[in-house]
Amino acid sequence: MSDTQLMDKLASLAKRRGYVFQSSEIYGGTGSVWDYGPLGVELKQNVKALWWSAMVHQRDDVEGLDAAILMHPRVWEASEHVDVFTDPLVECSNCHRRFRADLPEVEGGQCPTCGTRDAFGEARQFNLMFKTFMGPVEDAAAVVYLRPETAQGIYVNFINVQQASRQKVPFGIAQIGKAFRNEITPGNFIFRTREFEQAEMQYFVEPGTDDDWFERWKAERMAWHVGLGIREDKLRYHEHAPDEMAHYAKKAFDIEYEFPFGWKEFEGIHNRTDFDLTRHQEFSGKRMEYIDPGTNKRFVPYVVETSMGVDRTVLVLLADAYREEEVEGEERVVLGLDPRLAPIKVAVFPLMKKDGLPEVAERLHQALRAAAVPSFFDVAGSIGRRYRRQDEAGTPWCATVDGQTLEDDTVTIRDRDSLEQVRVSVGKVVEWVRERL
Ligand code: GAP
Repeated sequence: MSDTQLMDKLASLAKRRGYVFQSSEIYGGTGSVWDYGPLGVELKQNVKALWWSAMVHQRDDVEGLDAAILMHPRVWEASEHVDVFTDPLVECSNCHRRFRADLPEVEGGQCPTCGTRDAFGEARQFNLMFKTFMGPVEDAAAVVYLRPETAQGIYVNFINVQQASRQKVPFGIAQIGKAFRNEITPGNFIFRTREFEQAEMQYFVEPGTDDDWFERWKAERMAWHVGLGIREDKLRYHEHAPDEMAHYAKKAFDIEYEFPFGWKEFEGIHNRTDFDLTRHQEFSGKRMEYIDPGTNKRFVPYVVETSMGVDRTVLVLLADAYREEEVEGEERVVLGLDPRLAPIKVAVFPLMKKDGLPEVAERLHQALRAAAVPSFFDVAGSIGRRYRRQDEAGTPWCATVDGQTLEDDTVTIRDRDSLEQVRVSVGKVVEWVRERL
């Protein structure tokens, strides 16, 4: 199977099973933004909940925040996004399609769309921030930007959070939220989009301890991804060369995954030094220093940032979990998602639509729902077809109510990956599932 075929298969499975739909599809879609369907929103929520739990709930030294998307326009001058958050853009003199000048297929001078040679003039710098207007007057004074990273909402609240939580440096602030970039060339399904979500954490440290914290967070984040069940041989670090580094970074490592279209970043770890806080101090005139209560030492903290794309992580998880295999002479497609990530944990089937089996199955399904275990009830089609649908959806367990249930009050639970079947008492299914989550 070619790489393009695999991406097509993933996108088609994602649509068929309700993971991801093209935004505004009935109008032809936009190609640069996507909607998450019933299973996709669950998978995404599960990723975010696990991240939040690891970052905020299980640590003493990281606080949560939910800052607004629209911020004062001076924020983006201070952060230098107005000046330098750009990509080089060229336009074909024949078909007028626009491309990023640094794409390999554009660098030779030939237009990838219409084939015109020497198609491009000088590249110009194109700012990736979306602009809109705050308030009822649409003039230059009312221009605001949709945030291109969530990080700035954290920096401008550094003193607020530190004082309210009484945290001492080193400590961090974590946030999950939407970010927007007017990418010149979005693509590869949900990999590069114009609206996306980031899960970012800014860790404030004393200057001089930043290299050490950088290494710690770099290791911690990789371990977190491995803990989600992502294949280790598909993960690696990539260190940014000086010319790849963002304007704020002293050091940067990407965590990359080997997607069907190559090794690409889905999380960045950055040493942002005191760049952002110092610039905000300068532009706002407000103190961004921290005073160490023990030593009375004053300093503007350095920041080690971990910045994960939630949508890209969803793509990593889908690509990593997707497999085609033969079982008992039949081909099946499986999403082998970790049970903690799977949108549906259990599917409940009555083997037949008679002898009271649907009623018993419905009761079990409702018991799972009441215990907040996402469950799906299905009576349609042969048992084999019902299994296949759940394999594709990534459901780890299917519980079947059959003739024996009426005799001994047990159901068969079939494991998605090993295909093993065990019998469990109806009254113990909730507990059985919970133990495995
Ligand atoms: N605050 C630092 C920052 O934003 P970045 O490397 O530009 O750093 C961090 O972005 C992560 O955000 C990326 O690793 C990626 O997962 C995600 N991301 C960035 N641009 C994206 C886009 N256009 N579409 C989807 N995800 C994107």
